[in-house]
Amino acid sequence: MRETKKEEEEVEEEEAMNALAATNRNFKLAARLLGLDSKLEKSLLIPFREIKVECTIPKDDGTLASFVGFRVQHDNARGPMKGGIRYHPEVDPDEVNALAQLMTWKTAVAKIPYGGAKGGIGCDPSKLSISELERLTRVFTQKIHDLIGIHTDVPAPDMGTGPQTMAWILDEYSKFHGYSPAVVTGKPIDLGGSLGRDAATGRGVMFGTEALLNEHGKTISGQRFVIQGFGNVGSWAAKLISEKGGKIVAVSDITGAIKNKDGIDIPALLKHTKEHRGVKGFDGADPIDPNSILVEDCDILVPAALGGVINRENANEIKAKFIIEAEIIQLIRTRMRS
Ligand SMILES: NC(=O)c1ccc[n+]([C@@H]2O[C@H](COP(=O)([O-])OP(=O)(O)OC[C@H]3O[C@@H](n4cnc5c(N)ncnc54)[C@H](O)[C@@H]3O)[C@@H](O)[C@H]2O)c1
Repeated sequence: MRETKKEEEEVEEEEAMNALAATNRNFKLAARLLGLDSKLEKSLLIPFREIKVECTIPKDDGTLASFVGFRVQHDNARGPMKGGIRYHPEVDPDEVNALAQLMTWKTAVAKIPYGGAKGGIGCDPSKLSISELERLTRVFTQKIHDLIGIHTDVPAPDMGTGPQTMAWILDEYSKFHGYSPAVVTGKPIDLGGSLGRDAATGRGVMFGTEALLNEHGKTISGQRFVIQGFGNVGSWAAKLISEKGGKIVAVSDITGAIKNKDGIDIPALLKHTKEHRGVKGFDGADPIDPNSILVEDCDILVPAALGGVINRENANEIKAKFIIEAEIIQLIRTRMRS
């Protein structure tokens, strides 16, 4: 039961919010707390540049396919803009805008001399062959090459992209501007990538978890974890957390969800995922409904797939004592009731 009409109106307003509206709302709340000048607040909400390009490629069967690509450059006051490129069917301009803005706040909070940007292509990478993905990445790079650069905007991997995608961008960009390995981060080591980059975000999740638990007088050892998403971030987080004695009791990805209350053998699951391109069918755990992953019994929940997955519908059902957000778009504000 909602107590007042005002509360009901607030609920309706929040439910109608997309990622950008929710991010803007959170920024305004923070600006108010910081006592930020209203002109500064307004200007920080307006992105520096929004790029939308149509990327048409020949498919392997000879037909043409067209995909829409975006790059939103939010702010460069503190340095070159920085942010990932996502390949996912749900990529849309508002989401890219929100993620670009959040990159500005992330680089500022971490005190590194960069601004914020984000990009993406609305596509399902699992339905494209390697050569189709290469053609798509190269066409996208051809369309944005004059707007990115080592002193302007430096892309990185995100969901659905990885070191290979960065290598294609680097190569295509270098055809126009000369060899420029610093135009992307997250590239293969052989092309000048940094050691440890692959594991870095998952390691950050592990360090964040460790710090949070320490504040509560606990350690990772013996805690039960549920992880949504078993890609770059989720799988590295799972590996590093399990090496610290954490018990991963349930995991999901786009292929399905699995559970083993005694703890999943993560090295064995990593091997299975490599061979079968997903967690589905792993024989060291039982299959469960992927829709129940966020509400599985555990101590710590790690959403590491899409953002904004925790909402009014499921917030009160979550059993975890702590939520460690690996995905970027923060929790929708919600009044949880116990
Ligand atoms: N890679 C990075 O360095 C990095 C940095 C900061 C934040 N992030 C964020 O972390 C999250 C994961 O990124 P990643 O690099 O691991 O991507 P990835 O593409 O390597 O992996 C994504 C995983 O999520 C799963 N997934 C996709 N849709 C799902 C769904 N509906 N339900 C359950 N699982 C689903 C995929 O199957 C895959 O296992 C993203 O939100 C991304 O923005 C990544």
